[in-house]
Amino acid sequence: MRTQIAAANWKMNLTFQQGEKLLDDILAAEINLKDHQKTIFAVPYPYLTMTRSEVAEEKNYYAAAQNCYHKKSGAYTGEVSVEMLHSLNINYCVVGHSERREYFLETNAILADKVNLCLESFIIPIFCCGEALAIREAGTQNEFVTIQLQESLFQLTAEQIKGIVIAYEPIWAIGTGKTATTAQAQEMHAHLRSVIASKYGVAIANQVPILYGGSVKANNAKELFNCPDVDGGLVGGASLVAADFIEIIRSLK
Ligand code: PGA
Repeated sequence: MRTQIAAANWKMNLTFQQGEKLLDDILAAEINLKDHQKTIFAVPYPYLTMTRSEVAEEKNYYAAAQNCYHKKSGAYTGEVSVEMLHSLNINYCVVGHSERREYFLETNAILADKVNLCLESFIIPIFCCGEALAIREAGTQNEFVTIQLQESLFQLTAEQIKGIVIAYEPIWAIGTGKTATTAQAQEMHAHLRSVIASKYGVAIANQVPILYGGSVKANNAKELFNCPDVDGGLVGGASLVAADFIEIIRSLK
């Protein structure tokens, strides 16, 4: 079975104390993850060390950064490098969330640099892709995400791409309460897998976890995660409520 992942994306929410309590409450549920299941908390930078120690004793629970800078080091006041994350023993980093693309003008080329730097520092990128509503309405979503993958991931070797995580997040579903239907999610995930297969072969493509993101909730997670090509979720709003995220973790295949 491919790795199945419940990833929380806290975005710019919660104080340190609220974050600590949320983790305590989630971990108190004592969900024993199977070997192929993972739970990842993508938290604000100042909470990374706390999150890492909270999950240190838990099997298959991890802390992730929500972003990193696309240069190795240097005079970039206020930015955080991948090497810094690695030095904190962080294993995952979200790359290319649509909010970063939209508000911080991150391009496919910049995201390719981030993905490369992550892999150089042994950090697994959770690479986000997905189309806006206008593209979905025009029916060109497959072409759009294909270019996102080609321009940010196709420089990788087969060995490298096997080790990353992809998250498909249709922008029209993020924070809107409007979830993609299981048919829409499955269709796009199968497409993404076929794009990877076209360059790296089916065997490699079959190993890459592809998460769905966009209004995943406690009451729709199971149905979404049961799609054959959906390998879990990247969850915003519902990851901020312990009972909801616990249910989402329990919904993993
Ligand atoms: P949402 O956010 O679950 O609140 O829609 C998902 C995301 O942006 O990762």
